[in-house]
Amino acid sequence: MVSVIFPAAGQGTRMKAGKNKVLLELSGRPILLRTLASFSRMPEVGELIVVTGREEMEEVRAMLQGAEGLKPWQLVAGGSERQYSIRNGLNHVAKEADLVLVHDAARPLVTAEVIRRVMEGARAFGGAIAAVPEKNTVKIVDDEGLVVSTPPRKSLWAVQTPQGFKKDILLEANDRAEQEGFLGTDDASLVERLGRPVKVVEGDYRNIKITTPEDMVTAEAFLRQMEEEEA
Ligand code: CTP
Ligand code: MG
Repeated sequence: MVSVIFPAAGQGTRMKAGKNKVLLELSGRPILLRTLASFSRMPEVGELIVVTGREEMEEVRAMLQGAEGLKPWQLVAGGSERQYSIRNGLNHVAKEADLVLVHDAARPLVTAEVIRRVMEGARAFGGAIAAVPEKNTVKIVDDEGLVVSTPPRKSLWAVQTPQGFKKDILLEANDRAEQEGFLGTDDASLVERLGRPVKVVEGDYRNIKITTPEDMVTAEAFLRQMEEEEA
């Protein structure tokens, strides 16, 4: 059984909306509900674990209770860092789950194809992440703003979610990071520290993380395009 943890406990500071960005409507439907709907369409997925801020729990609970077609869900209080929010989510994963996916609530445009590739990669390798080839040249820059080096673009991948892992591996990685005071910016980085393989599978350039106000415009355009493709 596959369990999916959705970190949704951020503040949405960069969105400057005065509230958690995942509660904003994208083409008339809250971002969080769009994200949960994408996973609820997957037969392999058995449960949704939504991690949200304590002060938003009742609003989110009402939203989920009013939504149709969701897989069985639980609501869990988040932490001050994304990694702590995932930890809290992990504590509620069902015993029967063998695979755990983590997916940013702020990525509503994820497709079934991407989700499936991550699940298959995680089953085969223990861990798998969705990513796309980086389009920009990326530079390492020091604190004085001087360029240190330019990694070859061919080896750079822009990483997305979902990120999927065998449950025991993600639990071990999270425990170890906690013990050692390591804070990662994604879940795979904790697994990499264990020296375990993480397979990169094909993501989607439209699977953006809605972060700043202009991302709403981009996401609406992508959504329209995806709906046209489906029709
Ligand atoms: N998140 C979380 N718990 C935190 C921080 C972030 O569950 N303590 C979640 C966010 O809700 C989001 C995802 O992790 O769905 C990715 O984080 P990010 O895009 O940084 O969202 P925010 O932290 O909300 O935004 P900002 O950094 O602009 O405040
Ligand atoms: Mg953040």
